[in-house]
Amino acid sequence: MTATSALLPTTTDPQDISIVSELMYQLKVRDVMTRTLYTATPANTLRDVQHIMRDRKISGVPVVENMRLVGIVSLDDIIRALDGGEIEKPVAEKMTRHVFTVEEHVSVVKAIDEMEKKGFGRLPVLNKAGELVGLITHWDVVRTLLEMLQEVAMQAEKRERTLQPTEAQRDAAQNVTVLEYTVEKDDFENAGRASSAVKKYLQSRSVDPALIRRVAVAMYEAEINIIIHSLGGRMTARVYPDHIHVSAVDTGPGIADISLAMKEGWSTATEKVREMGFGAGMGLANIKRCADRFQIESCLGKHTELNYEVDFIAKPAATA
Ligand SMILES: Nc1ncnc2c1ncn2[C@@H]1O[C@H](COP(=O)(O)OP(=O)(O)O)[C@@H](O)[C@H]1O
Ligand SMILES: [Mg+2]
Repeated sequence: MTATSALLPTTTDPQDISIVSELMYQLKVRDVMTRTLYTATPANTLRDVQHIMRDRKISGVPVVENMRLVGIVSLDDIIRALDGGEIEKPVAEKMTRHVFTVEEHVSVVKAIDEMEKKGFGRLPVLNKAGELVGLITHWDVVRTLLEMLQEVAMQAEKRERTLQPTEAQRDAAQNVTVLEYTVEKDDFENAGRASSAVKKYLQSRSVDPALIRRVAVAMYEAEINIIIHSLGGRMTARVYPDHIHVSAVDTGPGIADISLAMKEGWSTATEKVREMGFGAGMGLANIKRCADRFQIESCLGKHTELNYEVDFIAKPAATA
């Protein structure tokens, strides 16, 4: 079974050590050995051993006396005994007394190396006290490695699954389209320019018309607020595959009491502005209603910043 040798590391560069080699280095003989042993005593006949081999489908039987390994009988020994008419003889007479063994605390890599060198497919395993505690074969190693690889693969799969949202987010961030507009104080002429442009862009991306309406209404209100109440500002729409983020930032008087400003019908708009059809005091409340997420911050005498997002997944809509 020289194929196992290919599993052994051939380099000292840790970068180049395969997963299999890494796993194998962690393994001790005691982790992989077979603990269920079929043994014979020196007093058994070779016929007894032949029956053990036949019944258990094994090709080597350790010989034990007082917990000590005293020899081993191989299938070859049995065949020879059958040929020579010696099958009824006691094990003690025909067993191999010099047995190559391995200690249970030794690494699997070393044990395999030993098996390769000696040309044996199995080695009896002894504990520190020299008692026979198991048997190691190539197959034990392969089976354990397969189990460990299965575990590694499952962990990797699990990791991949939990990583997916983050990758989706990263994708989304790279897929962003940014639309920016300057909004001037008292520029009623261009009122609605930013919201119309964003509306057109969303239509070109086949966003649900009901969602586009929500985005545009909120954007229009924010735009008007900059025109009416501030000294001028900027609107930015960031369009992601699954949502839009709109921010309206201005310099100006700011808002003294945000919760009051949010109240429907509350307005500081001038008579002149009201005559033009603005200043009903519904703007901020409307923006909040249209948005899936909404935030307003203000620094009195300095600036106001409003942010909102609308998701592009159709849901039982907040009434716009
Ligand atoms: N960008 C802003 N800068 C300063 N004050 C603002 C701003 N936006 C809103 N406000 C204040 O909040 C109030 C309520 O806003 P809104 O709900 O839009 O009603 P309206 O615009 O009709 O007055 C405004 O009257 C104004 O006092
Ligand atoms: Mg308003």
